Amino acid sequence: MAAATRVLARGFATAPVVGPTPRPRSPISQRPRAPAHRGAPPSVPTRCLPLQGNRRTVAVLGAAGGIGQPLSLLFKLSPLVQNLNLYDIVNVPGVAADLSHICTPAQVKGFDKDNLANALKGADVVVIPAGMPRKPGMTRDDLFNTNASIVKSLAEAVAKHAPKNAMVLIISNPVNSTVPIVAETLKKAGVYDPRRVFGVTTLDVTRARTFVAELKGLDVNALNVPVIGGHAGHTIVPLLSQNNAGATFTQQETEALFKRIQFGGDEVVAAKAGAGSATLSMAYAGAQFAYSVLRAINGEWGVTECTFVESKVHPDVPFFSSKVTLGLEGVEQIHGIGKVSAFEEKAINDMIPELKKSIEKGIAFTKA
Ligand code: NAD
Ligand code: LMR
Repeated sequence: MAAATRVLARGFATAPVVGPTPRPRSPISQRPRAPAHRGAPPSVPTRCLPLQGNRRTVAVLGAAGGIGQPLSLLFKLSPLVQNLNLYDIVNVPGVAADLSHICTPAQVKGFDKDNLANALKGADVVVIPAGMPRKPGMTRDDLFNTNASIVKSLAEAVAKHAPKNAMVLIISNPVNSTVPIVAETLKKAGVYDPRRVFGVTTLDVTRARTFVAELKGLDVNALNVPVIGGHAGHTIVPLLSQNNAGATFTQQETEALFKRIQFGGDEVVAAKAGAGSATLSMAYAGAQFAYSVLRAINGEWGVTECTFVESKVHPDVPFFSSKVTLGLEGVEQIHGIGKVSAFEEKAINDMIPELKKSIEKGIAFTKA
């Protein structure tokens, strides 16, 4: 396939581009905008955020959970969000009432277990952090038996009640299986569009940026480290050699960083000692990814994130996380793996059988 090079947003300096050259875009200023804010008069001192650009409807499924609550808070603070629909099977009225008192323009509504259809109505973006988290000693795959059916039933509701062009962002573990479950469920319902289904792997990139910046004394805000593959242990492959700061690593540093990034989730699970897994860092990462999707559907050009999507990047697996440029319709371009070190190449080759098995498990579950 032809490879081109262009400048991408969010610190991914130049990268090989796989797929068609993007069409020219009209300037964002020519796109329809939300009506001007007619809230508090200027004389009232306020720290509320101003409106910017198009504002959208976001539905959070699992909104009362450890991730769901801080994630919903970040959406409530975002000028990209007009309506925030919170759904959970427990405790959602309290979370919705609490968030609704924050003086930002997003309108918060809570939807209890009988109101999933209404929560999904008109959603531009559906984020799914519903399901059980790990306890010490568990793998993400140990969550499959509980979370597969939760995610499948939510995907069935998305197929039925969400707009056909909604973007579906899956946080629930095991991501390597839950994303294929959502894809297959939407396929079965005849509404699957592979450009609109994303596994959220942004926490791996977040950890990679943090740990590399700490080790090398770099500005974390300017640093990018792509992380590819999947979202579980060895299937997480940080491409340290592609960091945009040009940092280099000894073999010992490479091994230590790989281990910490691949098993960062276990570090949090162990520290929480039975009280769950990463929630605050995940809410941050999930919000960053969702903001990127929202910016892209608002017409911003070149927004690029690593995310686990249906992909042909690796010939042996139908889903893979790599750099993806987002556009008006979701996935616009899936970027190839690019040049990697021998260590990274071996890490990719070694983990493919595990990733393949998890993907197949998700597909088989949905087909059964
Ligand atoms: P949690 O138990 O604190 O919250 C889960 C929420 O889901 C609860 O409020 C629960 O009531 C709700 N829920 C359960 N079944 C539901 C259903 N059918 N419909 C709607 N809501 C339902 O767990 P958490 O810490 O928020 O983690 C949630 C999931 O996210 C876990 O599977 C965890 O492993 C995963 N996770 C993924 C990443 C990632 O990087 N993708 C990172 C951290 C956690
Ligand atoms: C993480 O990476 O923190 C999440 O996938 C949660 C977990 O179970 O580790």
